[in-house]
Amino acid sequence: MAGNAAYDWDSFDSGDYLEHNYADLHDEDRKILNIVRDFLCGQSFDTHTRGVDVGTGTNLYPALAMLPFCQEISLLEFSGANRRWLARQLRDYSANWESYWRVLTEREVYRSVQQPRERLRRHTTVLKWDILDSVPEVKWDVGTMFFVAESITTFREEFTTALGKFCALLKPGAPFAMTFMENSKGYEVGGKLFPALGIGVADVREEMAELGNDLRIHHVNIGAQPLRDGYSGMILAHGYVK
Ligand SMILES: C[S@@+](CC[C@H](N)C(=O)[O-])C[C@H]1O[C@@H](n2cnc3c(N)ncnc32)[C@H](O)[C@@H]1O
Repeated sequence: MAGNAAYDWDSFDSGDYLEHNYADLHDEDRKILNIVRDFLCGQSFDTHTRGVDVGTGTNLYPALAMLPFCQEISLLEFSGANRRWLARQLRDYSANWESYWRVLTEREVYRSVQQPRERLRRHTTVLKWDILDSVPEVKWDVGTMFFVAESITTFREEFTTALGKFCALLKPGAPFAMTFMENSKGYEVGGKLFPALGIGVADVREEMAELGNDLRIHHVNIGAQPLRDGYSGMILAHGYVK
């Protein structure tokens, strides 16, 4: 059992994590992307909308999903290695993200973005952030946090704190989407072990009852080739901050 501070996040092997999880588009991510895309397409955003993704790691698809709707997108990341990876990718993201973008372009609003690479580069910034501690000066209008709250600690209190602090980043009524590994026992990146708290749908529902309105929870079954050992599926939750 160990908390977030016990792990060396600065030495997170970004390349290995990307290769293992996002080099190819897996069925689970396609399902999540479809649901998040349709959820965001159902919102009305104004031209000054500011989006935030927490613990981005090497996953650009939450930011791509918010891209047509946001004037600014902030990627909040604790790990120095992942912040450097993000800074490089934002200059000109790699070809693997094109299959994720293709899923998004099944809806017209994404097709109307002529140059997604250019738009992501011009509208996105990376910030050093500790989701268990940092407090925002100005709140965001829409937010995502994918595989973070349960995958940065084995402590239930830190899972609760991460969810509360994520919702506190957003304005009341702001739409959000979050994903979770279900029953994860932790994961290996570049030969190093990183923590997870084994949570399920009931835990997400219980934690979010006080934080979100109109909460919808989707269970995503494991595809033919599980991404990581020791988990039983993925959970996607979306709703509006109270
Ligand atoms: C399992 S990875 C998820 C990465 C990515 N969001 C995804 O969908 O694959 C967990 C991420 O949380 C970041 N992280 C760890 N501790 C954090 C903290 N205290 N505050 C913010 N991010 C943190 C890690 O650096 C890593 O990028």
